[in-house]
Amino acid sequence: MIKIKKRKFLLLPGDGIGPEVIGEVKKIIQWYNKNKSLDFEIEEGLAGGISYDKHGTPITDEVFYKALECEAVILGAVGGPKWDNVEFSKKPERALLKLRKELKLFANLRPAICFKQLVEASTLKPEVVSGLDIMIVRELTGGIYFGEPRGIKPIDNGERKGINTHTYTTSEIQRVARVAFDLAKKRQNKVTSCEKSNVMEAGLLWKEEVQDLHDKEFKDVELNHMLADNCAMQLLRNPKQFDVIVTDNLFGDMLSDQASMLTGSLGLLPSASLGAKNKEGQMRAMYEPIHGSAPDIAGKGIANPI
Ligand code: IPM
Ligand code: MG
Repeated sequence: MIKIKKRKFLLLPGDGIGPEVIGEVKKIIQWYNKNKSLDFEIEEGLAGGISYDKHGTPITDEVFYKALECEAVILGAVGGPKWDNVEFSKKPERALLKLRKELKLFANLRPAICFKQLVEASTLKPEVVSGLDIMIVRELTGGIYFGEPRGIKPIDNGERKGINTHTYTTSEIQRVARVAFDLAKKRQNKVTSCEKSNVMEAGLLWKEEVQDLHDKEFKDVELNHMLADNCAMQLLRNPKQFDVIVTDNLFGDMLSDQASMLTGSLGLLPSASLGAKNKEGQMRAMYEPIHGSAPDIAGKGIANPI
């Protein structure tokens, strides 16, 4: 058997059901190493609450640099009620957000496919979901998740004010839209771009920049714009109208959880977080399920490893 170049993966099992899910991933990687002409090298590290408990930080520099060196990071889940009262900057989720931001993983692909055998598992009628195959492309390194200013500050009247800022630039919008258009060309050739251009300037910019890129480079792809609240409704009413949905960080977070239930379970949606390509044409990647750490079922051996 000819073995190809060693590919290094960093596994970050994290918290809750994360280690159970990653335990299954490890078996698959080991199976490939044994039975196929592949040779994956696996490293493991701590991220999330488990890292906070041991090192006082959700991700150590050492683990972070390992992530930078690896070809791909495979992450389980982070967070849980145990860390509810931890200082905000040290919360388990900060590890995940740091990895996404610093590895520049701006495009998060969340495919929602309804497997024939699981049609009955959805809470929706079989005819609504059977054959469903949609791809949500969520912007992952911008928007309200990362915008400045942010924080909680006291104000004059003795109250406090919570602040988060939603911003997007032309290039941030167009690079993720490009991913969506490229994907659509390999699928049903249809992109639905979602924002709230009726109330948010950044949403209006989103719409205009997606349209602009379409007109310049992707005229052959069908493009529709949809308000994000309408998209939430349409996902329940007639989800099969969608092929590729491209949307911002926050709407993508919510719409993908919603889409997961069309497939039967939140446990069934994987995601690939991809960054820009380097000169060799390789892109950084982190693979993570879309679900959280599910502390209520952790350790019971019932987490869905798919
Ligand atoms: C997701 C998750 C994360 C997010 C959390 C765990 C920070 O909900 O990947 O969808 O909000 O992005
Ligand atoms: Mg989410």
